[in-house]
Amino acid sequence: MINEFHNEIEKIKGVFLEELKKIQSQESLKTLKDKYVSRKKGILTDLLKRLKDVPREEKPAAGKTVNKLKVLIESSITNKLEEIGSGEKLTRDYSLPGFDYPQGHPHLLSLIRSQIEDILLTMGYDIAYGPEIEQDYYNFTALNFQKDHPARDEQDTFFIDGLPETLLRTHTSPVQIRYMKDHKPPIKIISPGKVFRKDEPDATHTPVFHQVEGLLIDKGITFSHLRGTLELFIHSFFGDNVNLRFRPSYFPFTEPSAEVDISCFLCFGKDPNCRICKGGGWLEILGSGMVHPQVLKNCGIDPDVYSGFAFGMGIERIAMLKHEVRDLRMFYDNDLRFVTQFG
Ligand code: DAH
Repeated sequence: MINEFHNEIEKIKGVFLEELKKIQSQESLKTLKDKYVSRKKGILTDLLKRLKDVPREEKPAAGKTVNKLKVLIESSITNKLEEIGSGEKLTRDYSLPGFDYPQGHPHLLSLIRSQIEDILLTMGYDIAYGPEIEQDYYNFTALNFQKDHPARDEQDTFFIDGLPETLLRTHTSPVQIRYMKDHKPPIKIISPGKVFRKDEPDATHTPVFHQVEGLLIDKGITFSHLRGTLELFIHSFFGDNVNLRFRPSYFPFTEPSAEVDISCFLCFGKDPNCRICKGGGWLEILGSGMVHPQVLKNCGIDPDVYSGFAFGMGIERIAMLKHEVRDLRMFYDNDLRFVTQFG
């Protein structure tokens, strides 16, 4: 009896291994598995059931053999499954379209900043950078701000606690000072970057914004050089058909100083209800002037030999005008519905 049982098991094992060899898909492997190990009518299950008919003294040996077969069948099926699994990976169809990853692009402020930089780089300006955490000396004193100038007020400027005379720069003009102290004329730089003011956020104010500063120092530089430079810049940026207007103004570090307006590029002053200029016809775009002789002196440059001009503009303001952005805060909300419009 026991020999018959052992022979039968050997036979089953042989058949199983033959059948297993031919398996190539997960479905047929599952069918094979069912055939041998299914709880209801699997061959192995049947063998285990039949153990009860084996004479008592032969039971342990018979049980061992059945068990060995069980382990062999189960592990062979597991191995085969892995084999088929990896085989299927290799035969995947790589010509199918891949996943669609959305492509990013620079933020509108970065785009405007590089457009401004590109124009001025083409005009021969170098780019200079300065620190955002600045000394009072560079931000105010050397730029000819008097001790009691309102911009120095604690209500307007972020001072750094515990560090005397240290603040977040309120404009990019301190880079002028740093650069003039380090370099001999001729000087021709622009300086883009972040600036900080204690403003409550609203549609036209945020405590952080961006400026681009320009500075040119050489022998014989006059106001007409400033005018020509800004005309070329503005026409390159907004188009040849906009006009420029210089309005007398005041900055402590320039004399004379001028605020520059451009004619409204949407209505050219012809629409009293224009959504950009509100009918005024002019848009304020930047501050400028001839570098104050005292500022040159502060930087070790002789104002009897050299002269120069400077200008400064807000990147947000220019971006808002050009793209009709009505609320400054939208630049910083990171709402994709806004941000992705300017790819
Ligand atoms: N620093 C000025 C501001 O933040 C802008 C400015 C005006 C810069 C005139 C200049 C300039 O270089 O000449 O309001």
